[in-house]
Amino acid sequence: MKTIIAANWKMYKTRAEAAETGRDLASRLQSLKTDRMVLVFAPFTAIAAAADELRPFAAVGAQDVYPALEGAFTGEISPAMIKDCGAEWVLTGHSERRHILHESSDFVGQKTAFALKEGLSVMLCIGETLAEREAGQLERVLSSQLEPALRDLPKDILADRFAIAYEPVWAIGTGKVASESDIAEAHGMIRNLLSKFLGSVAGSIPLLYGGSVKPANAPAILKLDNVNGLLVGGASLKAESFSQIVTA
Ligand code: 13P
Repeated sequence: MKTIIAANWKMYKTRAEAAETGRDLASRLQSLKTDRMVLVFAPFTAIAAAADELRPFAAVGAQDVYPALEGAFTGEISPAMIKDCGAEWVLTGHSERRHILHESSDFVGQKTAFALKEGLSVMLCIGETLAEREAGQLERVLSSQLEPALRDLPKDILADRFAIAYEPVWAIGTGKVASESDIAEAHGMIRNLLSKFLGSVAGSIPLLYGGSVKPANAPAILKLDNVNGLLVGGASLKAESFSQIVTA
């Protein structure tokens, strides 16, 4: 399975800033000649600018999607609009959307299924809060976030165009990276839950870790069992630090 190194630019970068970082990153990736898959999840307004600079060295994704073809959904963005801007991927269920915008696991599940059906590749984000972890709820939370997203999905699509990012909420943007044993435990749990829900295709779904990943901690995390990539926030905003993570 190809290792995936993904950038989540969150609500950062105008079109000009995205083009500048994209150009810088593309020139670094060109000289690195990595065989890793590099993805950049850009804000909607900067997808086209980023994709124009990054092609063919990295693929671009959106950070959210609405589960309908078109219609009276003010402020929302459809899969066709995302593809039209040059993106092939989309994130669903990022913890900032679950917790700040109160998206339910059912709604995240609808988005995941609809985006896959419309031809986008999807990276589904899951992860527990500190209170849930301390209450011994890790497996229950991961299962309750996975199950609605995996219901009724064709298995051949999942093997091809689907990835999961485990991002413990307490490790996002806090500088508090999960310990290697915490990451290995959660990723093993997710792999087992995937087998339970999906059967044998579970082994071909990439599992990424996210939460305060930096050039210094990336190599050790990538060596852990069941870690097939990284989803990087803060350290992805500059091409220099993100390209160091790409080769970690
Ligand atoms: P940080 O790398 O800034 O902790 O963000 C992680 C994240 O949320 C990526 O989606």
